[in-house]
Amino acid sequence: MKTKEDYIEKVLYSEEEIAARCKELSDKISADYKDISKPLLTVGILNGAVIFYTDLVRRLSIPVHFDFMIASSYDANTHTSGKVNILKNLDNDPRGRDILLIEDIIDSGTTMNYLVNYFKDKGANSVKVCALLDKPSRRKVDVNVDYTGFEVPDEFIVGYGLDFAQHYRNLPYLGILKRSVYSGK
Ligand code: IMP
Ligand code: MG
Repeated sequence: MKTKEDYIEKVLYSEEEIAARCKELSDKISADYKDISKPLLTVGILNGAVIFYTDLVRRLSIPVHFDFMIASSYDANTHTSGKVNILKNLDNDPRGRDILLIEDIIDSGTTMNYLVNYFKDKGANSVKVCALLDKPSRRKVDVNVDYTGFEVPDEFIVGYGLDFAQHYRNLPYLGILKRSVYSGK
């Protein structure tokens, strides 16, 4: 059996630190949308955002509707392909809705830039972005991230929903993946 030490270089944020930050973000979002006329359409980007999504939305004090998308600019490795595919679209009509896109991490920005423009084109009333993690040093496309959990360095991060080739999503903390796991050295 492999232990954490075999694949995690360093724990970046513990369960407790993530929970505290989620609470701060939820409080801010609830305050910002307190006068909303229709429930906020909270859109989780599957699969990476699912754990963050559930922790965040359960703390919101405003009315919300759940929805999910699968959009991917990534292959099963650490290199972005630069192209966005929508593999699962919303169940709700985005027209006239206030949409909060909830994502695990903004890296090149390709995915979020595409989705924000996509929903604006579809006639959403407003589109905002909430990302657990932001890696600004990797940005290739401009994105306005309205709510950020933590800014992280240019390292490959796993846990709390984030994967490497579908592994490590269920780790309760956020950690830097050892380079030896993906470089083969
Ligand atoms: P972007 O379109 O380049 O911003 O890519 C965002 C997506 O890339 C995220 O939703 C993740 O699925 C993936 N990704 C980027 N960096 C990491 C990382 O450090 N760990 C795990 N997934 C990542
Ligand atoms: Mg993702």
